[in-house]
Amino acid sequence: MKAVVNEHYGSPDNLEIREIPTPEPQAGEILVRVHATTVGRTDSCALRAHPFFVRPVTGLLRPKRTVLGLDFAGTVEVVGKGVVKFEQGDRVFGLTPGGYGAHAEYVCLSADGVVTVMPPAKRFHEVVVCEGAWYANTYLKKFNLRPGHKILIYGASGAIGTSAVQFSKIYGANVTAIVSTPHLDLARHLGADRVVDYTAEDFTKIGDSFDFVLDAVGKTSYFRCRPLLKREGVFAATDLGPWWQNVILAIWSTLTGKERVVFPTPRHDPSFLEFLKERIQAGEFRAVIDREYPLRNIADAYRYVETEQKAGIVVIKVVPEDFSPET
Ligand SMILES: NC(=O)c1ccc[n+]([C@@H]2O[C@H](COP(=O)([O-])OP(=O)(O)OC[C@H]3O[C@@H](n4cnc5c(N)ncnc54)[C@H](OP(=O)(O)O)[C@@H]3O)[C@@H](O)[C@H]2O)c1
Repeated sequence: MKAVVNEHYGSPDNLEIREIPTPEPQAGEILVRVHATTVGRTDSCALRAHPFFVRPVTGLLRPKRTVLGLDFAGTVEVVGKGVVKFEQGDRVFGLTPGGYGAHAEYVCLSADGVVTVMPPAKRFHEVVVCEGAWYANTYLKKFNLRPGHKILIYGASGAIGTSAVQFSKIYGANVTAIVSTPHLDLARHLGADRVVDYTAEDFTKIGDSFDFVLDAVGKTSYFRCRPLLKREGVFAATDLGPWWQNVILAIWSTLTGKERVVFPTPRHDPSFLEFLKERIQAGEFRAVIDREYPLRNIADAYRYVETEQKAGIVVIKVVPEDFSPET
């Protein structure tokens, strides 16, 4: 099969499209023919081994996993022994957490992993949104977001931000989205009740206060956002922050019993994928697709993701014919 291989840490120039052996599903596994995948910030950090402390996990000198890619949507090609949940030909989507491997024509994974049958009538690229959605939902769950809550989402145009706006509305919250000028309409269409252009005004002085502030893009800080928080308000960020301050503040919050800053890490949650699928099927959640690239141009997709300017997700068309308008 064709796969995008990175044998050394470094820039997207290191990526090579090569023929490698197609994995064989063991008992309890399925082999999926990948039709669509994404390049996300996690892939790009893994490619560069950034931040440096990921190396004990990803490989000290060279990557342990030489094929990246977390999100996938495709068809079940082979069903391993003992698998009853899936049949050959099922259209499935999901995540390969920890394992990577979706930047290839085939990926092998446990049938009990983060994989489920696609919502009917949806196309492959419309469901490869799991990673950003999973992260966004982790934060909102930690907040225990409910109707009546007010949330401010900073960086509401990224993969996590666009998901966070949509899930916040699903949970019944009032949403203020902070984005740049080109993304104002996007945030409105996703359901934000109020949109603020951070390039035109200081979002910390909008004369409102919130139960929760989520820095969905890792570009602001608790100290900057503190004036926006209600007395019992809680801040969360998707990034470590300067000098790991978000982690330190979260530990401090736990030690003092005043939960002002939280830094949850997403955990395997089998119910999440079913929740996402139902929301997509109900038309309450959609993938925001910025750009699509054929597999052969995946290095360009990485370069674009590294600009940190994408809106939503960047899709890789592994089977290009799926993307013609009539299919
Ligand atoms: N994607 C994932 O699944 C994932 C997983 C783990 C961790 N993370 C971390 O979570 C953070 C967000 O990831 P992501 O994938 O959602 O990001 P992303 O999609 O790369 O975010 C890009 C968006 O952020 C906006 N942006 C850039 N600079 C901004 C600023 N100063 N203020 C407000 N908005 C700004 C950009 O639009 P404008 O420049 O036009 O504003 C763009 O729309 C990153 O720090 C990433 O490392 C992401």
